[in-house]
Amino acid sequence: MFSTALPTRKRRRPEVTFTQGRGEVKFGDVKVYLVERRMGKSRRNFLSNLARSKGFCVDDALSGNVTHVVSEGNAAQELWNWLEEQGFGEMQDKHVLNVSWFTESMSAGRPVPVELRHYIQDALEVLAENMEFSGNQGPCLAFRRAASVLKSLPAALQCLEETHRLPCLGEHSKAIVEEIFECGSSSRVEEVLNDEKYRTMKLFSSVFGVGPKTAESWYYRGLRTFEQVLTEPSIRLNRMQTAGFLFYEDISKPVSRTEASALKIIVEEAVIYVNPHATVNVAGGFRRGKEFGHDVDFIIKTPEPGQEDAILPAVIERFKSQNILLYSDFQESTFDLSQLPNHRFEAMDHFSKCFLIVKLKREQENRERETDKGASRDWKAVRVDLLAPPVERYAYALLGWTGSTLFERDLRRFARLERGKLLDNHVLYDKATKAFLPASTEEDIFAHLGLEFIEPWQRNA
Ligand code: CTP
Ligand code: MN
Ligand code: MN
Repeated sequence: MFSTALPTRKRRRPEVTFTQGRGEVKFGDVKVYLVERRMGKSRRNFLSNLARSKGFCVDDALSGNVTHVVSEGNAAQELWNWLEEQGFGEMQDKHVLNVSWFTESMSAGRPVPVELRHYIQDALEVLAENMEFSGNQGPCLAFRRAASVLKSLPAALQCLEETHRLPCLGEHSKAIVEEIFECGSSSRVEEVLNDEKYRTMKLFSSVFGVGPKTAESWYYRGLRTFEQVLTEPSIRLNRMQTAGFLFYEDISKPVSRTEASALKIIVEEAVIYVNPHATVNVAGGFRRGKEFGHDVDFIIKTPEPGQEDAILPAVIERFKSQNILLYSDFQESTFDLSQLPNHRFEAMDHFSKCFLIVKLKREQENRERETDKGASRDWKAVRVDLLAPPVERYAYALLGWTGSTLFERDLRRFARLERGKLLDNHVLYDKATKAFLPASTEEDIFAHLGLEFIEPWQRNA
């Protein structure tokens, strides 16, 4: 698997590969190479094209000119062994990096300076994910928080002592940070990356509709690959998982900001067709300014109370009639103010919502570049979430669906512990006065909490 997944040096290097992208090369002194192993061929193609369109020079082969080697999910030792085999020597101007450097550079539109936190952040995220897979919510959250703190640092970490002053860094995270400072990698992280259960869980739970429970049950039944799952007679996939496997190639690729904008036009058209007075807003990661997402989240605002109930079924019908609907799961509203506030943290809110997979027309340019099979299709399957709250709940729904999940969690905690108020996607409830606080904008909610407004792009950590 190792040798087949990786390009070998014997393979003839295409002539000046980087001219494939349409964008001119803006950063001549940075030459990126993306390691295909674990990243996968289609994601590698996608990321290469994206980088090229932003003026980065991406080499398809690991030549001596490469300055930045980017890998995802590879254990350091294996990666170094492989690089050595390729004759890629350690040199002053060469960096071997985790994908967080790459995604940050894409967001910034330029190569960001390489920092130690790029290694540490990825390492902590691997540990968080591993804890999540084994159902350890507490430690998972601790590693997520620590990774998020490192991500939000304004400047590079200069020395180990600086990390001692950081908030949210627990003992375990500190130990990992120390190890990476001293040895360049962490044995615990390497162990997880090489762990069969972790690898299998990561693979299975990357399928739309497959949660940690299902992934785990497949793992304990001895299944390790998609093929084994799909050919196992006793496994009956539900509708969601069937769609997940059917469109896996497409929906496992990140959605770009450009694709999100194209989808907004499609959603707006359908929404206005159904209700000319309704408006559409982007929520989720794209509202927070992210360059990629695993889906695109939209929140629909209808002017009159009650109009929200009919809108999503009608939008779904519209997509069907346009022949762009590949999958839909519509969930009717179960919102009932008299049942609130709810003191438990709830994963799901009660608004009318739908989880969709829709066809998005490919750009001509992308289609030519795409080398994968299936590229003859002129569309890409994309995950879209739509939410239609009652208008008087809109501000709370928007705040809740903008995320990030970690930000929401911390904001709720702050409201509860510091302000004696219960916040969720539906309401803000003042425990002292036993009253629901009205809000027509997010600004109103922050004001109720006695906080300055926090811009969506400041909610990533
Ligand atoms: N959310 C929620 N209730 C749900 C689903 C989502 O409150 N049933 C919120 C979460 O707080 C999340 C946001 O909606 O931050 C968007 O969810 P999701 O698309 O899963 O995450 P993103 O932050 O958009 O990340 P990505 O870019 O990968 O899609
Ligand atoms: Mn999203
Ligand atoms: Mn979503």
